[in-house]
Amino acid sequence: MISLSALPIGDLSQFDWIARFKANQVHRLQIDFSTEPELTPLERSLISPSIQSFQKGEASEGRFLLHHAKQYADRSHDPNYPETMKWFVLEENWHSSYLKKYMDYHQIPVARHSFPDDIFRLLRKIGGLRSEIVVLVTAEMIALSYYRALAECVDSPALKSICRQMLKDELPHIVFQSYTLYKLKSHPLQKLLRILLMEVTMTVVWFCYKKVFQAGGYSYCRLASDCLGYLKQSIQIEETGTLSQKNQ
Ligand SMILES: [Fe+2]
Ligand SMILES: [Fe+2]
Repeated sequence: MISLSALPIGDLSQFDWIARFKANQVHRLQIDFSTEPELTPLERSLISPSIQSFQKGEASEGRFLLHHAKQYADRSHDPNYPETMKWFVLEENWHSSYLKKYMDYHQIPVARHSFPDDIFRLLRKIGGLRSEIVVLVTAEMIALSYYRALAECVDSPALKSICRQMLKDELPHIVFQSYTLYKLKSHPLQKLLRILLMEVTMTVVWFCYKKVFQAGGYSYCRLASDCLGYLKQSIQIEETGTLSQKNQ
């Protein structure tokens, strides 16, 4: 598990997320397929279902999210928040397009539906901004372990480069979302709900894509330990508004 406090972000109250997202936009990943080997039938059947699902999950237009972000900005006098969120959604869509390029290259079809993604979308629409962010950040924390496992699953330089980029982008996303939860203020009971949501979700994802995790060196215990470790850090940011090292 990677420590979020190691990220070069500093004081969260001063951090310019829009500048960061804009800078990322200029240096998007160019996927190199020049040395890409063909997938074996076994590799294809191993990775396809989960890649299809995560590609779909990364592709959200964020309509509800942007709507709630605007409402929050209006009532909390945080005028930059909707634009920050717009850049965030754009970055997620880049993730979807990386996976789509990989799928196109290997002729893996796009999924119309995926069970975990359908559940995530449903949960995100249950409440307001807070629920959306809690569900999103839970998915992002699980995605960190998924992309680490996926990178180890097959001998694919292109996929390894995509997974590296995902980790590079998703770690700051977790900080960004957790700090928004800090600004939204929470009830102590909501912390328990976050733990419960993580435990249920990581278990569902494990059972859906166990073979990928196992091929990537993950047991259920390692997945749980990583996910709950990230959650602990996220809750610390939510409670304190800082990335303090001593809280790790
Ligand atoms: Fe993403
Ligand atoms: Fe993300």
